[in-house]
Amino acid sequence: MNQSLAKVQNPYQPSRAKIVDIRDLTPDTRLFQVMLIDPKEREQFTYRPGQFCQISVMGTGEIPISISSSPTRPGLLEFCIRKVGRSTSSLHRLVPTDEIGIRGPYGNGFPVEYMQGKDVLIIAGGVGLAPVRSLLYYILDNRDQFNQVTLLYGARSLQDVLFPAELQTLEQHRDLNILVTLDRGDTSVWPYRVGLVTELFSEIEVAKNTVAAVCVPPVAYKFVTKELLAKKVAGEDIFMSLERKMHCGIGKCGCCAVGSKYCCQDGPVFSYWDALNLPDMI
Ligand SMILES: Cc1cc2nc3c(=O)[nH]c(=O)nc-3n(C[C@H](O)[C@H](O)[C@H](O)COP(=O)(O)OP(=O)(O)OC[C@H]3O[C@@H](n4cnc5c(N)ncnc54)[C@H](O)[C@@H]3O)c2cc1C
Ligand code: FES
Repeated sequence: MNQSLAKVQNPYQPSRAKIVDIRDLTPDTRLFQVMLIDPKEREQFTYRPGQFCQISVMGTGEIPISISSSPTRPGLLEFCIRKVGRSTSSLHRLVPTDEIGIRGPYGNGFPVEYMQGKDVLIIAGGVGLAPVRSLLYYILDNRDQFNQVTLLYGARSLQDVLFPAELQTLEQHRDLNILVTLDRGDTSVWPYRVGLVTELFSEIEVAKNTVAAVCVPPVAYKFVTKELLAKKVAGEDIFMSLERKMHCGIGKCGCCAVGSKYCCQDGPVFSYWDALNLPDMI
């Protein structure tokens, strides 16, 4: 065999990872804590909040999933996975100690350096809390680098709120403003509001130097960006994590192409201006 070819790493070759723990978050969403099996790979695996991995279960295929843990807390990787179809269902059938394949990290992630010294306004809806949770913990672990931090989070109902206990703990932080709203349901359990996530904008002040990080269901981007622009957040300071169907994750197959961009490489985080110039992005 050609020795030099043997040394070229196959970019499609996943790393083996072991599931350490699985937690039910909502009736259809689970948090998977996983550990890369190879200690060297584990040590070398670095990522940015907002990046994703291609996760595979032997025999069922590979899917893109955002990393929900923060690079400031190395060791275990966390993925928050909603069961919607074939691959996510096979992931939900796994148990701790089972193995999965992981490729990545891929994508650009949120511009954390650019956010330094500014107010950060995070807006999440549903399972969109997964990637921004990584950003939230990154900011908390580097708290002196950022100004005022606010999270606006919307879920369909009380049982759909991801990480309710964590949100309650985070709410105790004096330097973190967290507002949670439910589309419907009982709000007596914790001071949740009822209404759409866009309605929370009436409760907050938005300073001039604010950078926004948004991850909401596709239909909500239009309405959230409208609120942000009304609050005078500049288009280039609005960063949105957008989803497209993906296969390779590395800019080869072309299935995530939008206009001149590849969602897997140029995204999944796009500024409002970038997204406006791309067909059907928001
Ligand atoms: C960058 C990125 C990050 C993601 N992060 C997360 C995450 O953190 N947690 C999470 O639960 N999901 C996340 N997703 C969505 C996840 O990849 C899809 O839910 C998954 O691929 C569905 O696979 P499946 O085989 O279970 O469903 P399938 O059997 O393939 O399809 C089931 C249904 O889901 C739809 N669907 C499939 N893939 C996508 C997609 N990429 N976007 C929108 N609809 C899709 C199909 O059209 C179909 O209606 C992310 C997607 C991207 C592109
Ligand atoms: S997923 Fe293949 S090019 Fe983006």
